[in-house]
Amino acid sequence: YHWDFSFLNEYGSYYWTGIRMTLEVSLLAVLSGLVLGTLVSFLRLSGLWPLRLIGSVYVEIIRGTPLIVQLFLFNYGLPIFLGFDIGIFTAAYLALTINSAAYIAEIMRAGIQAVDKGQMEAARSLGMSRSLAMRQIILPQAFKNVLPALGNEFVVVVKESSVLSVIGFAELTYQANSIRGATFISLEPMLVSALIYFVLIFTMSKLLGIGERRLKASD
Ligand code: ARG
Repeated sequence: YHWDFSFLNEYGSYYWTGIRMTLEVSLLAVLSGLVLGTLVSFLRLSGLWPLRLIGSVYVEIIRGTPLIVQLFLFNYGLPIFLGFDIGIFTAAYLALTINSAAYIAEIMRAGIQAVDKGQMEAARSLGMSRSLAMRQIILPQAFKNVLPALGNEFVVVVKESSVLSVIGFAELTYQANSIRGATFISLEPMLVSALIYFVLIFTMSKLLGIGERRLKASD
């Protein structure tokens, strides 16, 4: 087999665009997913059963169907439902956010439940309302405890975002596939994207590991 990486000269910029799009949509999705997921975790921890039910249904449906299927539903279903075009970026971003939020909701729920219940009791006995104690005492501790898990979710989303290529969202995998189509080289363009993903993910994991050790040391 004659390895051919000569396409890198002409198509190198495709990869840079792909990396930027991959990181951009992943970061946006995890940040919005954090907001939505935290709200869903409140539903799941609510004292009212209808709210708990809504939270559970959301989490179970999203985690019980593949991301790629959700993506198709958003991309082709949402414009019909809304009556106007939403564009590929919005469809991709919404699908990834709503997907990630279900996983983040479970991370947040576990994190909130892991805070010693004596913390709430102490805050209440000092005269704080439930919601003030939640915001000022419980959530900051929960958030600190789940930071490593949230970092891990970001890593997962960066990899999962490769399925956004199926609706034509021009992230890294899409770009590599375009190069395959333009050059008729089937293997090497994907091999380069694999290497790029690996470097991205490996670097992020190392940075997260360092951050995690710092958090532990400050305890
Ligand atoms: N590959 C799985 C799916 O298609 C995981 C989805 C994303 N996971 C996540 N932690 N956001 O359903």
